[in-house]
Amino acid sequence: MSDHVKLIYDGKTYELPVITGSEGEKGIDISALRQTTGLITLDPGFANTGSCVSTITFMNGEKGILRYRGIPVEQLAEYSIFTETTYLLINGVLPTRKQLNQFSILLNDNSLIHEDMQSFFQSFPRASHPMGILSSMVTALRSFYPEIKITEEEINLMVTRLLSKIRTLAAMSYKISRGHKVVYPRPDLSYCANFLNMMFDNPVKPYQIDEDQVRALNIFWILHADHEQNCSTSTVRMVGSGRVNLYAAISAGIAALWGPLHGGANQAVIEMLTKIKEEDSGNVAKSVERAKDKNDPFRLMGFGHRVYKTYDPRAKIMKKTCDGVLEKLKISDPLLDIAKELEEVALKDNYFIDHNLYPNIDFYSGIVLRALGIPTNMFTVMFAIGRLPGWIAQWKESVDDPNWRLSRPRQIYAGPAPIDYVPIEDRI
Ligand code: CMC
Repeated sequence: MSDHVKLIYDGKTYELPVITGSEGEKGIDISALRQTTGLITLDPGFANTGSCVSTITFMNGEKGILRYRGIPVEQLAEYSIFTETTYLLINGVLPTRKQLNQFSILLNDNSLIHEDMQSFFQSFPRASHPMGILSSMVTALRSFYPEIKITEEEINLMVTRLLSKIRTLAAMSYKISRGHKVVYPRPDLSYCANFLNMMFDNPVKPYQIDEDQVRALNIFWILHADHEQNCSTSTVRMVGSGRVNLYAAISAGIAALWGPLHGGANQAVIEMLTKIKEEDSGNVAKSVERAKDKNDPFRLMGFGHRVYKTYDPRAKIMKKTCDGVLEKLKISDPLLDIAKELEEVALKDNYFIDHNLYPNIDFYSGIVLRALGIPTNMFTVMFAIGRLPGWIAQWKESVDDPNWRLSRPRQIYAGPAPIDYVPIEDRI
């Protein structure tokens, strides 16, 4: 098969190289396109554009495949823990037992937050969304830990610091928002258990670590850990391309994740299911009809995906985790019944079949988080903590890439032709 494509334009033929990935994916390398032809490409939403060559995550949207560094996400969800998957994503290989122990010690050593940062939390208005607070706090970390050099060791320290502190920041913001005393991280607890303890321990009712809950949280975060060039990850790469510090790039990623079409969908799903329960007496038909109506902006939240044109493999595991966790904790959540019914009705509907719309990760994840006691407005923060290893791995890959350039897309200008400035007194 030819490793070039021919472009015929204005009577001339140009040859553009075809790049083949390790899983057989093909792309046309257009890096010299403008220089040789004077043309640019136009691809709103970048649906056909590869922004980089990456060795981190493989997705096949037609077959429903997701692998981190070659390992199927199903195996990681079954056998791994979040810190091990984090190490895998950032370093490219699974750690030995010794490496994992060292990594855990480093995470513990860096888990405290500068006490002065606590006063920031107090200054946010009570109704502030936790994603806005998290994004600001991550940027603020740069001011508290400014000693960033470019040695490998310094970068590793900065990365570990961020991975560890983000969960302390998230738990702290929850405690302060409730007017409760902050709970400090404990060195004897694992990453996930530590987070749950910081969230829920209090002097009146000490938190009892529940291994089923800890396992569910590990799975939740593993499933969110990376998803190749999605909106927030592309944001991290793009902002990072200006060579800003890591904290600033991650803070931008958090802001991008906040939107309801991206990470904010997990909160939006629970709000939608609650509305169906309370306003439609649990009847899902009205929502399915509204989602199909092109005059109604309503969409079924937690359905559809830019890449997956079949069932999101993460959603399958999330659904199973959801059933398991509710059973083990003996919780009956009416929203789960509504979600299952909504899925059943939508998957039989021709509109959803024709548009290849299936549940995505966010459809069942909120019900798992509710079972763990996480408040709805913190769901997207939970997504952000999970996605952090992926953002960091992608940021590292981009800054180490010898071909990396400042991200600077072009446009097709469709505005007015040149006109002269009109003095204000002459305007009508
Ligand atoms: N409900 C109803 N119709 C939908 C939905 C939906 N959830 N999603 C897509 N469509 C329709 C859309 O109206 C359009 O129809 P038509 O071609 O007839 O005009 C068609 O499907 C294609 O939609 P699109 O917006 O061009 O597709 P996209 O690839 O740009 O959007 C999406 C992907 C995730 C933004 C979209 O499916 C959506 O809005 N879903 C709901 C929000 C959601 O669950 N987001 C979480 C995504 S997974 C987590 C993450 O990775 O961030």
